[in-house]
Amino acid sequence: MRIVMLGPPGAGKGTQAKMLAEKLNVPHISTGDIFREAIRKKTDLGLLAKSFMDRGELVPDDVTMGIVKERISEPDCQKGFIFDGFPRTTAQAENLDGMLRNLGISLDLIVDIQVRDEEIVSRLENRRSCPACGMVYHLINNPPVESGLCDSCGELLVGRVDDTRQVILNRLKVYEEKTEPLKAYYSGKVETAQFDGAQEIGKVLEQIMEYLGRYQGKSEVL
Ligand code: AP5
Repeated sequence: MRIVMLGPPGAGKGTQAKMLAEKLNVPHISTGDIFREAIRKKTDLGLLAKSFMDRGELVPDDVTMGIVKERISEPDCQKGFIFDGFPRTTAQAENLDGMLRNLGISLDLIVDIQVRDEEIVSRLENRRSCPACGMVYHLINNPPVESGLCDSCGELLVGRVDDTRQVILNRLKVYEEKTEPLKAYYSGKVETAQFDGAQEIGKVLEQIMEYLGRYQGKSEVL
């Protein structure tokens, strides 16, 4: 399966993508995670990405396309992938179409997760993540077993630099202006399924899995 997770910042794309990737046994490709890893390693890409991410602006399309092109040519992507946070502009989506066409493949499904802006601000202000393994928590809805420490590897959890109120509001504005138009772009091109991301994490996953079961049944018949 080749899936794109779409939705505003904080909708739960990463949370769901991680679980889906495990269930479907395909890689989870988060451009945000790739940039954050580059920032941690203080590479040139990291330095460049940081100057945009700290303000809630998008990293330039050509830079993002370069890392995606490299990542999807890796062998583990042959069985499919889940994009999380990519594509984010119409130019990225067009470029991706060309890349996939050259590989003789196409996207199967857009998973569009919707959550209201007020809920998003509260979610992101309470988000904590593990700098070592990338596990994501929420101080109230999805807390770690031991306060402040990652359940999976015991590392001290941290907040993201772009999860401050002012930057969150800018990310929402950028989403509305640059990413939301992708819904129209994919309409009639790639099957799109919408999910209410305000529900409990397990419930959202259950509904996506149920949809995928129906989708796979349908594509086997076709
Ligand atoms: P990126 O890392 O992609 O961030 P984002 O899209 O803003 O999304 P988030 O990671 O903030 O949210 P999410 O939807 O994954 O939610 P999560 O599951 O974590 O991008 C960051 C930056 O990198 C961008 O601003 C840009 O600068 C750059 N960038 C990345 N990709 C780019 C691209 N393609 N082009 C250009 N620039 C790019 O959940 C959020 C919180 O809510 C967590 O605490 C979680 O535990 C909790 N939660 C999740 N689901 C639920 C639920 N159902 N109920 C209650 N709480 C929940």
